[in-house]
Formats: sequence, C-alpha cells, structure tokens
Amino acid sequence: MNAFQFQNPTKIVFGPDTVEKLGELVQPFGKTVLLVYGSGSIKRTGLYDRVLSQLNGIGAKVLELPNVEPNPRLTTVKKGIEISRTHKVDFILAVGGGSVIDAAKAVAAGVPYEGDVWDFCIRKAVVREAIPLGTILTLAATGSEMNGNAVVSNWEEQQKRGLGSPHLYPKFSILDPTLTYTVPQDQTVNGTVDIMSHVFEQYFSRTADTPLQERFCESILLTVIENAAKALAVPDDYAARANLMWAGTMALNGGLISVGVQNDWASHGIEHEISAIYDIPHGAGLAVVFPNWMKAVFQERLDRFVQYAVRVWGIDPTGKTDEETALAGIAATRAFFTSIGAPSRLADFGIGSEHLDRMAEEAVRFGSIGSFKKLEKQDVRDILELSL
Ligand code: NZQ
Ligand code: ZN
Repeated sequence: MNAFQFQNPTKIVFGPDTVEKLGELVQPFGKTVLLVYGSGSIKRTGLYDRVLSQLNGIGAKVLELPNVEPNPRLTTVKKGIEISRTHKVDFILAVGGGSVIDAAKAVAAGVPYEGDVWDFCIRKAVVREAIPLGTILTLAATGSEMNGNAVVSNWEEQQKRGLGSPHLYPKFSILDPTLTYTVPQDQTVNGTVDIMSHVFEQYFSRTADTPLQERFCESILLTVIENAAKALAVPDDYAARANLMWAGTMALNGGLISVGVQNDWASHGIEHEISAIYDIPHGAGLAVVFPNWMKAVFQERLDRFVQYAVRVWGIDPTGKTDEETALAGIAATRAFFTSIGAPSRLADFGIGSEHLDRMAEEAVRFGSIGSFKKLEKQDVRDILELSL
C-alpha cells in the first residue's frame, strides 16, 4: 500500500425529505445564492419549488443559472460566472446530476479567478480559491456530490477536460434517494455503468497489498449489480435507489477505495474524447470502452483480473487457465452491461472511424494515460478501433 493523506470535508445529509434541511445548511455560508440546474427535470418533479421555499425561508436572494446541458458547456459556465460577479453571489447551489454539479463547481472556481476559467482545464492555472457550494443530487452516477472534480466541455474546440481542487468539495450534499425515482431508464443505466467504471479505475491497479481497498471495491460492485436491476424493474424501489446512490458517492470520493492505491483513469480519458466530439452520455461511452480496455490490458496483471472474475462474477476457476478465468470475468462484465440495456459499440451511436486518430491524439495530449498499463496514442487507437 502506498503512503497517503485523506480528508474529505463534504457533509452528507442522506435520506427522504432531507431537502427540508436546505435552509439551515445554506444559512452559514451566504445570502446571495446562485441556483444552478438543468433543462427542467427539477421543475417537473416539484423539487424546484421546494428548493425556492427553503431559500426564501432564510431570506436569501436567489439568482439562477438554468439549462445546464448534459456534458456541461464552457459557455454556460461563463454565463454563471458573469451572473455571480454582477450580483456578488456568495453561495452556489447545484440541484441535479453530475453535469449540473460540475458546472456549479467550474463557476465557483471561475468567479474569483481573473483569467479564463478554461485555464484550469488545460493545466494553465491552478484553482486557489472558490465560492462555497452545496448540492442536491438527483442522479446516482458521478460522485461529484462528494469530490473536488468537475468536467467541462469546450464545444467550439471539441474538447472535454477536467478540473479539480480541494476548494471544490461541496460544503454539503443532500442525498434523498426518492429524488432519483424519476430518473429515466437510460440514465439509470448510464449511472450504473459510471459507478462501476469508477470502481474499475481504482481496482485495476498495480499497487500490491491493498486487500481492504480491493474488498471495498468488490462490495460496491456487487451492491451496484444487485440494486441496478431492482431499480430498473421498479423505479421507486427505495432500498434499491438508496443503495445505488450511496454506492455512487462511495465510488468516487477520494476515500475508501482510492487511497493508498495507484489509480488508472485511462478509460475515462478515452471516453471523454468520444463525448467531446459526439456529445454522447458519459456512462454510455464507458459501457462501450471499458470491456475493451480490459481486453487490452488484462495480461498486465492477470491475478487481479482472476480475482475480479471469481469474487465479483462468481466464475468457477476450476479446470480453467488464469487467462480463461480472467476473460470469463470480462465477458461477464459485457454481458451485464448488455443485460441492463447499455450500448456495446460506437456504431450504436452512429459513430464510425472518421475521428479515431484525432481522439487518440487528444487523449494523450498531456502524455501517456493510465497506470495499470501506460497507453500511448496507438494503444488508445486500438481500443477505440475495438469499440467500433
Ligand atoms: O437537465 P435535467 O432536466 O436535470 O435532466 C437530466 C439530464 O438530462 C436528467 N436527470 C437528472 N436527474 C433526474 C433527471 N431526469 C429525471 N429525474 C431526475 N431525478 O438526466 C440527464 C443526465 O444528467 P447528467 O447530469 O448529465 O448525468 P450524470 O450525473 O451522469 O453526469 C454526467 C457528467 O458528469 C461528468 C461526465 O463526464 C458528464 O459530463 N463526470 C463527472 C465526474 C466528477 N465530477 O467527478 C466524474 C465522472 O467520471 C464524469 O466524467
Ligand atoms: Zn465517470
């Protein structure tokens, strides 16, 4: 196990009707609030009214940044920065999924920064301060509710890049699983794949002697596999939604499964290049890419893939070579994704081979990606080609 430091400052307020605590949670931070949300789901579900009533209850002045796109755009973030500066916003509240939360984080970082907020995404500047933010999560997927990361799309340049900082951890996140009852089937599928992919990025590691982190990973995967099927069958199954939500938060908060372990993140890097050009949902892109990444790298550390196959998918290794067991685990991953309705090929989105070179090149723009196996441009291209 590697040496590490761990601190996660986000307060989680979990359970039904926790939105009713919003006023008291916001109050210590400010009186002029930027409310950030997407293209309407929170209005349809009545959540918007509940949020406003809480903010009005503490006498807050509320500004709004609506219509944040899935794969949030830099132009929208800049709009939020402008509103925040004009009205001297002192707290940002994101109500939505990962896209809304990420846009809110980018606004929070951009307001006190004199340069272009995109600088943070292209490693030209580091976030040194940010406006405090809080979230109400409506979709179990990204973990953005309890981490310091955000991903922004620069549509004009067809680039999708991340920024991250300890300053961007939400002060609090309200996690009410009942708010996810209305998440459509396809987004429930995408979220499920995303959560599992976050675990993969940390589980398939070269770091030795980390049995606790590995078992945490396996328990998250098993929990997600079990509960995704239930939530898809019965969207208002509280236990299923609650377990998916908590699994999503635990899968990407820099904590239990991440510390002391070298992480990979190559598959995310590859997926972001696909989304940057084709604007496909993040989880759907991961469903296509991840099993192909597995096939490309499993020989690097066969024992980890054997463990995965046996412990997560219950593959019986008797009479099989390690390679056969590992491949059976990878096949089970693909079969599970397909069973819940996830896509398996880029062709499912009408994507052909036109931009493979460009995507591969952009993926390694800052150098090779991944640590389980370092991937250069050609390796990325091979995985993309396998994904066609
Ligand atoms: O826009 P609205 O109307 O809210 O509709 C959204 C959106 O259309 C809808 N939705 C969300 N909650 C709902 C709901 N519809 C009905 N009922 C509800 N309760 O779902 C659609 C997708 O939402 P989005 O926020 O885009 O999904 P997700 O949470 O999967 O976020 C994806 C974004 O997060 C980034 C991805 O790259 C992508 O841009 N990621 C962020 C990470 C992070 N910050 O740590 C890590 C991830 O790996 C990921 O890269
Ligand atoms: Zn992800």
